[in-house]
Amino acid sequence: MNGIKNTICKLVCDYVAGKGAELTAENALALLETPADSKLGDLALPCFKLSRVLRNRPDAIAQELVGLFDGVDGFERVEAVGGYLNFFFGSGKYLSDLQKLLNDDYSELEECGKGKTVVLDFSSPNIAKRFHLGHLGTTVIGNAVRNIFDACGYKTVSINYLGDWGTQNGKQIVAFKKWSSREQLEREGIKELERIYVLFGKEAEKDPSLNDQARAAFRELESGNEEYLEIWRLFKEISMREYTQTYKRLGIEFDVWGGESFYTDKMPAIVEELREKQLLKLDEGASIVDLSEYNMPPALILKRDGTTLYPTRDIAAAQDRYNEYSFDKCVYVTSAGQSLHFAQWFKVTELMGKDWVKDLVHVPYGTMSFGGEKLASRTGNIILLNDVFDEAVAKARAIIEEKNVANENKEAISEAVGIGAVVFSALANSRIKDTNFTWEGTLSFEGNTGPYVQYTYARAASVLRRGTQGGDYSSYTPVSEETELIRKLSEFVDTVKRAANEYEPSIISRYALSICTCFNQFYHNCRILGTGGEAEQFRLALTSATRSILGRCLDLLGMKRTEEI
Ligand code: ARG
Repeated sequence: MNGIKNTICKLVCDYVAGKGAELTAENALALLETPADSKLGDLALPCFKLSRVLRNRPDAIAQELVGLFDGVDGFERVEAVGGYLNFFFGSGKYLSDLQKLLNDDYSELEECGKGKTVVLDFSSPNIAKRFHLGHLGTTVIGNAVRNIFDACGYKTVSINYLGDWGTQNGKQIVAFKKWSSREQLEREGIKELERIYVLFGKEAEKDPSLNDQARAAFRELESGNEEYLEIWRLFKEISMREYTQTYKRLGIEFDVWGGESFYTDKMPAIVEELREKQLLKLDEGASIVDLSEYNMPPALILKRDGTTLYPTRDIAAAQDRYNEYSFDKCVYVTSAGQSLHFAQWFKVTELMGKDWVKDLVHVPYGTMSFGGEKLASRTGNIILLNDVFDEAVAKARAIIEEKNVANENKEAISEAVGIGAVVFSALANSRIKDTNFTWEGTLSFEGNTGPYVQYTYARAASVLRRGTQGGDYSSYTPVSEETELIRKLSEFVDTVKRAANEYEPSIISRYALSICTCFNQFYHNCRILGTGGEAEQFRLALTSATRSILGRCLDLLGMKRTEEI
């Protein structure tokens, strides 16, 4: 708790105690609010809840309390208005808050996760398909959540759990043997894999026996058929080559690439354990865990032919991660479409008696569509992520050229802004909401967009390049645009904590937007360069704090800092 809040709580608690009632410091703290409008003070104490405890009217309580603050240090004035007690801190408080911001000391934040490990499973595409719009959410939300936990001092382990083990890989093998060749694959890359997968879908509609062949092929894979394994390895290598490029463009790195196949040898033990604990039931030859008691369909563990399934692999993978990392949290970021899958296997894990099940967290998000178009991956009618990026970059370049004629770094800036715009769009709303991208909504430099944040950051950076900092401003009295901005910037640590608690990057994106609004108001109403004296020095310092916090927000969201636009 900071000093000034401490002072308020102490005085209020003593007052309540003096009236023969009780109020803990913690409860007093919870009552304090930051008024939306700084004209109503820097902090407010609504007296409505005290009214019950003290059996008195809120406005009468506020009137009595106000007297307690006479001559107390740290307040410029304290006012009772209706049932509220409003506190005004005065410039000393703002100057010291600004100093705190400039110290760049985040040890309090880093304390939160000290010694704790968070495993994050995100992106995890199914191999042999190019990145499409459907992968954007898990990739950028997962990465942002990872960055947020990093900032909170956790040790994070990011895992790309490639979908590289399942009947779809059997389909790819059958299709490859029928309609493709190694040469074609080497030449065309992942596109060829997609072509034959789509072809398989079409052909299997005419000839369902192809599906049996695919299942048989996967069975061969699971039992270690070297020829099949070799083909499968090639699929994987080609896919990873493609994915790595996209991750590079996004600036995303994984600590571990542990696809579903990695757990093949760990599955038998899990199946055995399920059997021993008498959780498995035979259902038309397949092995399932009955979850009807929990109002869920059964979890499928083994198919009739003995091959494993998605839930089986997830259980084995979670056990392995627990053995390896003793995680404090293991986080899975996927579309909300997979919520049932996670609820089912979490339940099975609980029934197995694993106490770490309480630390498994599914982080779902809504669908993402483009101009109203959803993706339809099996028909081949998909919106490719790289196409979206290319177009965003081209559009960003056009806007930048219009704005700023002579800039040698145009290419790099366009790439940062174009991609940042798409990333920001995917992180702008509460993750569970559906997002529909439009180019205007994504790329405008004025709306609630990524380019607006990056542009504001660049504006702050440009002011700092042109000014000379270092002079004194200790007797400067900030005006309201300035105190607003300091208040906003001071919320950084609490905001990041909240984003981590809720696994919610949009808390950071909204916060970044609100900093931009405050900064731009300050920038338009308060002349910085050329003002001279303490005002100029104070304003440069404030601009520097803004640049630093906004830069941190961009880092957390996984967007590039743009020093100039
Ligand atoms: N490969 C899956 C897909 O593309 C996502 C995997 C998510 N992670 C997990 N542990 N199940 O739908």
